[in-house]
Amino acid sequence: MDLSITKAERLKPKPDDTQLGFGNIFTDHMFNMDYSPDKGWHDARIEPYAPLSLDPSTMFLHYGQGAFEGLKAYRTDSGKIQLFRPLDNFRRMNRSCRLLCMPKLDVEAALESLKQLLRLEKDWVPRASETSLYIRPTIFATDPFLGVRASHNYRYFVILSPVGAYYPEGFNPVKIMVTKDHVRAVRGGVGEAKTPGNYAASLLAGEKAHEDGYTQVLWLDGIEQKYIEEVGSMNIFFVINGEVVTPELTGSILPGITRDTVLALTTTWGMPVSERKISINDVFDAHQSGALQEIFGSGTAAVISPVGELRYDDRVVAVGDGKVGPVAQKLFKAIMDIQYGRSEDPKGWIVPVD
Ligand code: COI
Repeated sequence: MDLSITKAERLKPKPDDTQLGFGNIFTDHMFNMDYSPDKGWHDARIEPYAPLSLDPSTMFLHYGQGAFEGLKAYRTDSGKIQLFRPLDNFRRMNRSCRLLCMPKLDVEAALESLKQLLRLEKDWVPRASETSLYIRPTIFATDPFLGVRASHNYRYFVILSPVGAYYPEGFNPVKIMVTKDHVRAVRGGVGEAKTPGNYAASLLAGEKAHEDGYTQVLWLDGIEQKYIEEVGSMNIFFVINGEVVTPELTGSILPGITRDTVLALTTTWGMPVSERKISINDVFDAHQSGALQEIFGSGTAAVISPVGELRYDDRVVAVGDGKVGPVAQKLFKAIMDIQYGRSEDPKGWIVPVD
């Protein structure tokens, strides 16, 4: 791929690594590339990070035709920079693009351009423990047009943000509210795509949950409002009688890469693992019988996030006595150890940048 590089004239001051939040600081440069029907993807360029100038009729702004990804670059103890399963992110982005009628990326070329951007921005990869450089690849429709159809032209960009923990709780149990007033996605829709509208659709329920002191919303299926789906910013797992259970992928759940990593690791550890339908009543029954041992979420941003309380209507499941369960603890350590190069990479998930 031909890639032009224009460097920023002045570099921003770097933040204090130990005080990083999530998604509020951006690096000096970004990657941009355009798509047109006659040229395909073209004009790949690394440029100073800057606002986008958009025609007010830009189709994405009106009809939401867009998709994004989230992955991270990690700094190892020896100072090397590495990625975790990046091709899986680009492959998932292509599946989102298919559902949203957008052109696919060449995944190898997308990875190569990301590495180039990261080499230029390597000083932005933070050093403090459990910090990383969050990577946000995004594609959106750019035709200036108000009719409803798929756009002909698109922009792909990648921005970078040094981050700490996603939740203010860090690796401490979060409280989650199960909503019965709203649904996030339905079978046959775009629930499995990482597309902005899915996140917009989650906001109202999220605000209601916050008002009641809950960190996130757990979504039930959009048809029977009975089966557990996902949390919106992460997939969800239950440990019931020693078995690791997560909702099966139905088309309305995001196929999380950390979800897949959890399934792979727990299987390797010889734990019984199952992807299946699990209803909210199953969870309450398991809790009542004493079989429910742990609940935790998984996601790129959140990694592993223990859940201490689940509320559904006036019923409450409290798990783990405010402590992190052993499976969540072991997974958190195992995943982070691989990502930060502290332990062996058992499945070839790590891609070095430099
Ligand atoms: C991620 O885990 O990377 C996500 O995209 C979740 C959220 C920050 C939108």
